[in-house]
Amino acid sequence: MITTNINLAKDRILQNELVAIPTETVYGLAARYDSEEAVKKIFFLKERPFFDPLIVHVSSIEQARRLVLEWPTVADVLTKKFWPGPLTVVLEKSSLVNPIITSGLSTVGIRMPNHAMTLDLISVTRLPLAAPSANKFGRTSPTSAKHVADEFKMHDLTIIDGGECQVGIESTVLLIEMKNQVPHLSILRKGSILRSDIEDYLKSLNLNHVFTTEVQKEKSPGHMKHHYMPSVPLIICRNSHMDISAVLNEFEKHKSELPQIVEGVKIQIPSQRLNNPSVLSLTENSTQAARILYQKLREASEIGADSILFFEKPELYSEDWEPVLERLHKAATYIID
Ligand code: TXA
Ligand code: MG
Repeated sequence: MITTNINLAKDRILQNELVAIPTETVYGLAARYDSEEAVKKIFFLKERPFFDPLIVHVSSIEQARRLVLEWPTVADVLTKKFWPGPLTVVLEKSSLVNPIITSGLSTVGIRMPNHAMTLDLISVTRLPLAAPSANKFGRTSPTSAKHVADEFKMHDLTIIDGGECQVGIESTVLLIEMKNQVPHLSILRKGSILRSDIEDYLKSLNLNHVFTTEVQKEKSPGHMKHHYMPSVPLIICRNSHMDISAVLNEFEKHKSELPQIVEGVKIQIPSQRLNNPSVLSLTENSTQAARILYQKLREASEIGADSILFFEKPELYSEDWEPVLERLHKAATYIID
């Protein structure tokens, strides 16, 4: 059921049921964080492996502080600057957070989403909400209530309709580790808040910090090779001399070498030769491209295309495009260099 009734959503949450929530990034599939029964329903409905941790959503900094062991100054200044907004901070968790949420890690990811209806829901339930993006594991994230309804057609899921997501791609995930009183920061997932935004702000405050780029895999178990995959194959071409038919020929030559499944994510490999591709065009501006990216990936199969082609141009090699390009690469069945 698609609704705008927050009281109804509140009742569902308190009854340990799932509710799909709008945020500025993508829609989430939410459960009260303090009920193992409710949180498990997320993993079952999404068909998500238990090794991939969930983000806990809060409506105040106070609420966030209770979920962690220590709230360092760097977390305080960054959340005051960027919350509510697309920044998830990962910190050592307190005993309030069930290990099922964090996949057994000692840390928890927390964010305050910038959407009035979801902030309302968290406030009226007085409960932080554990929520991943509201899509089946490995697939394209939803940026409208309709996308969520399409994804979970067979289920009687309560979906809050909060309109189209304004950012359109998932939050920046920032790991904060304190070593000898110095914050060490690593970006575990790129998002619209860039490393330079974070660095510039900390420098303006004269706050000492170290950015680390090498992150150990065990600290970021949710990082899979493939993710965000649309229901028809996406092929990326980075070779500026190739046209559509050359790309289709190249794919046809190599498709039998591709794996069927990678880290539990099914790869779309058509048995027929592709003959009806949709060429993905994004706008000139990275912010707008992020906003429409997932909608475009969904649209292609809805209009009956059998594949999506994306011609990657060197103009896109700047920091602000990285979050969009990273997602396209993970969503791709095949990349031609
Ligand atoms: O914008 C967003 O972040 C959306 C909306 C709904 O808030 N949520 C979202 O959740 O994208 P999800 O589950 O699709 O992605 C969360 C990712 C995990 O796959 C993992 O990579 C990382 O965040 N993560 C969460 N908790 C973590 C932790 N304790 N340590 C390391 N990475 C963590
Ligand atoms: Mg996701």
